[in-house]
Amino acid sequence: MKHSEPDRRQFLRGALTGAAAVAAWPAACTPSEESDTATGADFAAAFRAARSEQERWQVVRDQFLLEPSYAYFNTGGLGPSPRQVIAAVDEAWRSLELRCETGHGRRAAVRTQACEFFGCGEDTLAFTRNATEGMNMVARGLQFSSGDEVVMTTHEHPGGALPWFALREDTGIRIRTIDPGSGGGDTLERVANSLTARTRVVMVSHITCTTGMVMPVPEIADLCRRRGVICVIDGAQAVGQVPVDLRSLGCDFYVASGHKWLLAPKGTGLMYVREEMLDRWRPSYVGAYSDTGFDLVAGTFNRLRPASASEYGTRSTPVLFGVAAAMDFLTTIGTGNAAAREAYLANRLRAGIAPLSGVEILTPVEPGSSAAILAFKLPEAGGDPWDWCNLLRREHSMRLRPVGEAGLNAVRASTDVFNSEAEVDRLVEVLGTLL
Ligand SMILES: Cc1ncc(COP(=O)(O)O)c(C=O)c1O
Repeated sequence: MKHSEPDRRQFLRGALTGAAAVAAWPAACTPSEESDTATGADFAAAFRAARSEQERWQVVRDQFLLEPSYAYFNTGGLGPSPRQVIAAVDEAWRSLELRCETGHGRRAAVRTQACEFFGCGEDTLAFTRNATEGMNMVARGLQFSSGDEVVMTTHEHPGGALPWFALREDTGIRIRTIDPGSGGGDTLERVANSLTARTRVVMVSHITCTTGMVMPVPEIADLCRRRGVICVIDGAQAVGQVPVDLRSLGCDFYVASGHKWLLAPKGTGLMYVREEMLDRWRPSYVGAYSDTGFDLVAGTFNRLRPASASEYGTRSTPVLFGVAAAMDFLTTIGTGNAAAREAYLANRLRAGIAPLSGVEILTPVEPGSSAAILAFKLPEAGGDPWDWCNLLRREHSMRLRPVGEAGLNAVRASTDVFNSEAEVDRLVEVLGTLL
């Protein structure tokens, strides 16, 4: 399965015809003239001073450099960062350059903040470059024997799934894929039915990248615990889309991206290892900062036990300051308020397009089984999902993502805090005229 990417397909098609290649380069790639001086305090003050809901969400929108006429519905692919995140990275970068320091000593404060934000202990959280890196670290940090089984759904993203397929080549593990069902009791039943005496790991998305289905993670984690199976959650779509409290989810491992719904800098992520798993999981890559002491003459190396032992070598501290600013941003809004607003917009979109002829909505409707992603099929006569997304972007300045995974051939809209009712209504109207 190839990862869906309308830009690349459009670019390749355009490259063949010449002129279209220029048109395919999004105007949004042009650097903005605006400065990024807004601080978190400025935003918090303006957010609190807003006199109406509408004004409050406009204040939120104003924190983004997104072109005003560009309706960006692809946070599930890549989240734009608010000004305070960009400013935090810029400021940290510049201040560290004054004496050319790594700033590693300042990472601890960001970890403390992140652990509070995600509800976990400081030993259990490591910063990564993306969710995929976290999943590779989990898979390669556990010991497997040939014939051990890993269960996952057919709706996993390659970033969550492929690390296990690569591990299969090296260790002889077996991978069992199951249909995820509709997100409620049937999903749990499918997972339960897939377990055998050889099952060592269940790996599922917290929110699927395909249809935006919210998986019953606490129930799956509980099932795994009772059956002695390791529960690994791919939270790339969840962190920032819904409030995430790692301890109460109960899973053994959790990986996530910073650069989607958390709105943190590109190239950020995290990995969580439940306290009780720290003795069973060992980072496969180590180096400076992974030890409590080593002596090359005596030939000794004492490993650091916390998950952060995987943060070896020189790292970018400025982007971590961006992660901190992103958590501040969502904290100002309130993670619950943000989730409610995003779901409200997704439901508005659902209500708007459901009556349109030829539209089939794939995202489950049961309470608790969806959040802020809406996936739907459009008539194939209008082209494949890549054609639809290219058309919407080129002709109507709207960015959605095609969903090729699991043979769905659908289109996915992510509704985030910076989107407006007007943008959602415009999408409904455009689809109405095209269908
Ligand atoms: C469920 C899921 N897992 C993993 C990834 C990969 O994320 P990253 O690029 O941060 O590795 C994505 C990206 O869309 C995703 O949706």
